[in-house]
Amino acid sequence: MTSRKHVLCIVGTRPEGIKMAPVIVALQREPWARVSVLTTAQHRDLLDQVLRFFAIRPDVDLNVMRANQSLPQLTERLIGALNRTFARLTPDVVLAQGDTTTVMTAALVAFYRRIAFGHIEAGLRTHDLHNPFPEEMNRRMAGHLARWHFVPTERSRQNLLDEGVDKAQIHLTGNTVIDSLLQVAAYDHPLALPLDPSKRLILVTAHRRENFGEPFRAICRAIRMLVEKYPDTEVLYPVHPNPNILTVAHDLLGGHPRIHLCGPLDYTAFVEAQKRAYLILTDSGGVQEEAPALGKPVLVLRSETERPEAVDEGVVRLVGTDEVRIVAEASRLLEDAFAYQEVARGVSPYGDGHASERIVAVLRQALCVEPASVSPRDRNEILHATRTTAEVIA
Ligand code: UD1
Ligand code: UDP
Repeated sequence: MTSRKHVLCIVGTRPEGIKMAPVIVALQREPWARVSVLTTAQHRDLLDQVLRFFAIRPDVDLNVMRANQSLPQLTERLIGALNRTFARLTPDVVLAQGDTTTVMTAALVAFYRRIAFGHIEAGLRTHDLHNPFPEEMNRRMAGHLARWHFVPTERSRQNLLDEGVDKAQIHLTGNTVIDSLLQVAAYDHPLALPLDPSKRLILVTAHRRENFGEPFRAICRAIRMLVEKYPDTEVLYPVHPNPNILTVAHDLLGGHPRIHLCGPLDYTAFVEAQKRAYLILTDSGGVQEEAPALGKPVLVLRSETERPEAVDEGVVRLVGTDEVRIVAEASRLLEDAFAYQEVARGVSPYGDGHASERIVAVLRQALCVEPASVSPRDRNEILHATRTTAEVIA
């Protein structure tokens, strides 16, 4: 074999850690690959929690996070630090996942330095540049700069084809989040939280920039109204450390006996909380992918989603941030058992747990001379795997 190819895997935030971990592990088994992991630490605490969980030790840590960081300041720090690091490491390939500022800047610096860039979770679009902000711009930019586009669904493949991306550069793999989820969800985990098993659990997460201010306050008011309306419910809300969220969440929701605010949960605990939840309210991308696979109804606290597949399946509903609408939609699911069963069907449009293997197979073929193992049959399996994840977990 010729000399090993240096693949530099980038992780910056919690969801990137969760979604890159199975790819990093799969790459580390490949004899042709020399794998390095670079963390930007755009998220210091949340990412460290995830990297510890997956036993990933970064080779480089850029440590860029600052309290309440602004997007221009974060971008400036990332571009400088990534540029110096790529110059030093001279990787053959840079791989990153998703739509954060870390990913956008890694793609840009790789492009300037003429390093091949692989984009994982490519092709997601709302077609509204300001929603989500700035992620829609981040993923479009990363998409323009990628050599390989690893798309999770047929819909995301079509988005890229519509933008004129060469179909030979698009690879339908499924989403690696399902690879991680299946590893963890197959087992029950203790949850060291003061939950009452006789109550129906409403799990909440929220952190989107476009919801800061009044939309987030309305979300909090809706949560309070719901627990007061339904005495047989309780809320678990692991609060994101962003100060724009943390302070308001504690001001508006703190002190209620059936609203449990806690810090971010480690991945096993959060998956366990999803498994125990009756209903999930979230503006998170990753949770929109995981919860349907676990058969849990999700109300998405956003006006748009780049993940329409589960909405089309009827297992996720987009409800926005209007408190009256949130309470009405949640009430329907809490009161009407038939409506609840319709959305708690256990559908997994985002993958079958083998996305990382497919990504590695594509890279192996591109970077070595061996044939890739993504066959037309594999592709068919992904497209028709909508029930697979729920069945595996059940
Ligand atoms: C970022 C991503 C968003 C992703 C989210 C996942 C961008 C622009 N946004 O949003 O796409 O959905 O991560 O959670 O890339 N903080 C801490 N400790 C941490 C993490 C964050 O204290 O471990 C606080 C800091 O004050 C930091 C702030 O949260 O400045 C915001 O972090 P940032 O990464 O800029 O934005 P997120 O809202 O987390
Ligand atoms: N998650 C976690 N602990 C928590 C909340 C979420 O491990 O307390 C996981 C969740 O299972 C999902 C990911 O974090 O895999 C989602 O991250 P986040 O909502 O921060 O970002 P997004 O997906 O919106 O980019």
